[in-house]
Amino acid sequence: MNSILVGAQWGDEGKGKIIDVLARDHDIIVRSQGGNNAGHTVEVGGQKFVLHLVPSGILWKGKICVISNGVVLDPISLLEEIEQLHQRKIVTRGRLFISESAHVVLPYHRVLDAGREQAKKGRIGTTKRGIGPTYADKAYRIGVRVSDLLQPEILKEKLRSRLAEVRLVVARYGLTIPTLPSMLKDYLEAGEKLRPYITNTTVMLHRAIDEKKTILLEGAQGTFLDIDHGTYPYVTASNTTSGGACTGSGIPPTMIDSVVGVMKAYTTRVGEGPMPTYSDFLSDTLHGMKREFGATTGRARRCGWFDAVITRFAQRVNGIDRLAVTNLDGLDTLEEIPVCVSYRIGKKEIIDPPSDLALLAKCQPAYRVFRGWETDTSGARSFKDLPKPARDYLQALKKLVGARLNIISVGAGREQTFFYE
Ligand code: IMP
Repeated sequence: MNSILVGAQWGDEGKGKIIDVLARDHDIIVRSQGGNNAGHTVEVGGQKFVLHLVPSGILWKGKICVISNGVVLDPISLLEEIEQLHQRKIVTRGRLFISESAHVVLPYHRVLDAGREQAKKGRIGTTKRGIGPTYADKAYRIGVRVSDLLQPEILKEKLRSRLAEVRLVVARYGLTIPTLPSMLKDYLEAGEKLRPYITNTTVMLHRAIDEKKTILLEGAQGTFLDIDHGTYPYVTASNTTSGGACTGSGIPPTMIDSVVGVMKAYTTRVGEGPMPTYSDFLSDTLHGMKREFGATTGRARRCGWFDAVITRFAQRVNGIDRLAVTNLDGLDTLEEIPVCVSYRIGKKEIIDPPSDLALLAKCQPAYRVFRGWETDTSGARSFKDLPKPARDYLQALKKLVGARLNIISVGAGREQTFFYE
């Protein structure tokens, strides 16, 4: 079975650990969009791994991992990640493959990202990893691709012509970027180190499909950070929805058998932008439990109640047929748990999230309140181990979103995840 895994909210849904669990049943795990703005946390045997670019499948012996064409790749950061895996005795040679067509994040992309974020007005609250500017160069057709890192003359020419323009913009921000020779040296060196991993991953994946190998496309970020379907402009620069996984890997939609939507049992968001079910109370409760701090930037995430309006939309736009609900244990101490079932503007009921942000800002969540379970669920290993109010809560989420309740997670460990239906 070939599957796509997507985030059904604003990212940070706990995709890393669900990918890790699903990776066991797939031969090849592919990362197809975004870059090292993502932070996928996986805990295996008491060891914590935070992966930004390398698919979490690397933690399973013998699995093949691919970083495909739709990714924007920071080679220096990738090499650090590979080095950390090596230090923990995880083999990457012959297991990790990188697309020659993926676009490269360069120092000036990060500086341009940071420069824009300095402005008070128009701040997105990005991760400052240079993601937006790299995708912008790709769309402008002036980007540097991974294959260019292996061709000194081509890289030099591309950097020379790009830097002339970039320097003017960077100076306006009062920032600086490295010189052409130093950039050339660093990135050609990085290219040489990555050479054994670089290939045409689209062709490789098609061969694998012909050989009846199974593929898991791991999404990064979430549906509402999608550049088309998210809360634009407070989004990332790629298509984080299931369609993006196809263009980002070259695997056609007709080859996909299932789409898994990962969602928290509540809602979180980092960065700017609207979040209708935000709750001070839930944010304080979860932060007090040392939960909900970002894996990539360490920022405190905004927390709110489960929003069925957005997740129902995510189910449709991605074609989600299976749900994975994570962080159920985050709600363990609560007496009552509100769930947003629709929005209201005045007396009018809204059941689909408006794409117009001004309208979304006017939406007031309408809540249905569920009884809490006030019991520690982190030891549950099957659905029937959960207290009745928790089972009722999950069944309600399933009904509201409209997909099979396939996986439930009650903690960070691999063993704290179980399949249901
Ligand atoms: P960028 O992707 O760094 O350009 O950031 C754009 C928006 O997406 C910001 O609100 C970020 O906080 C958010 N974002 C990017 N990557 C992630 C992620 O992996 N998890 C959650 N939010 C993210």
